[in-house]
Amino acid sequence: MRNKVIFFEVQGGNDKGADGYRKDTMPMVDALKERGMDAEVIFFDKEKEDEIYNYVSTNALAYVSRINPGNLKEEQAYFEMLRRLCQDGVIGMPHPDAMIGYGSKDVLVKLKSTTLVPDDTFAYYNMEDFKHQFPKSLAKGERVLKQNRGSTGEGIWRVTLVNPQEHQQEIPFDAQIKCTEAKDNHVEFWQLGEFIEYCEQYITGDNGMLVDMPFLPRITEGEIRLFMLSEKPVYVVHKKPAETENAFSATLFSGAQYRYDTPDQWSNLVENFLSELPQVMTLLGGYDLPLIWTADFILDTDELGQDRYILGEMNCSCVGFTSHLTLAHNVAEEILSIIKKNKTVTA
Ligand SMILES: Nc1ncnc2c1ncn2[C@@H]1O[C@H](COP(=O)(O)OP(=O)(O)O)[C@@H](O)[C@H]1O
Ligand SMILES: [Mg+2]
Repeated sequence: MRNKVIFFEVQGGNDKGADGYRKDTMPMVDALKERGMDAEVIFFDKEKEDEIYNYVSTNALAYVSRINPGNLKEEQAYFEMLRRLCQDGVIGMPHPDAMIGYGSKDVLVKLKSTTLVPDDTFAYYNMEDFKHQFPKSLAKGERVLKQNRGSTGEGIWRVTLVNPQEHQQEIPFDAQIKCTEAKDNHVEFWQLGEFIEYCEQYITGDNGMLVDMPFLPRITEGEIRLFMLSEKPVYVVHKKPAETENAFSATLFSGAQYRYDTPDQWSNLVENFLSELPQVMTLLGGYDLPLIWTADFILDTDELGQDRYILGEMNCSCVGFTSHLTLAHNVAEEILSIIKKNKTVTA
């Protein structure tokens, strides 16, 4: 009988507490049990895939995925198993294709028709397109190149021309560029053509690609992370890059300062994002919103001089809330409400 909620985790990694689980997982399990819903954690293991699939398919009403698929050797097998579970009627939190859609950096090009993304944002899936477009993009101004993998600012490069000239349509391959990596804000000087070749590593391989977007100088005012429970904004993290020269990274490792705010302190951002959400959901394939997810924004200024919030990325695969553990109760309520909603739909 299907009567429980399964949390998927993977063994190992540096995000686990003394009990071997992510620190915010057992609080959710306990909060569900307090409310009369059985719940347990299963470690995904490719060796035991059939056993796990059979067990979950028979016993689970829903699963909650707490694995960063990028850290999983058997990413494809994991997604395939989740897909089969969803087909069997287990409620996916989230569905694997929502995980891929929301979590990939090329989400930005998919959302180009919304107000959340600048028009001149591109994604490159092969070297030819990259070589063709990037010199033109760079002629318009400073750019940020983002690889698809990771979440630590690694392979996220701010690219600046050393000697910008006006009215250039396209930057020649022998031009000098200054490249700053978001991982630690370190600077390297390159020739454009050589740097493009260096970036081939980001384009090749599974899910390889690069996003090319304008550099937004107001990043120095901070990156604004909206923490969401399905369609509800819960809290905001304001991440201010270090005040050293060249710093543009909002990662903790690079020295950024974090502050926790409430959504009503960011009402313009929140209202605008919520009004775009139905459109976002449609453009990303029509899946239900992820259970726990985040959207990161950077301030920009529009033609009228008004603030505009640009989407930098979204995360929905392994978002934690160890800084706000009491949220486990809100998450449990949300899980129960999603299960209830699905019951009335299928009844
Ligand atoms: N367009 C941009 N303009 C200015 N800074 C940016 C831009 N895009 C990213 N950044 C900075 O780079 C950091 C890392 O980029 P992000 O897209 O969040 O990748 P990651 O997955 O590594 O976190 C961000 O936290 C932000 O500080
Ligand atoms: Mg980020």
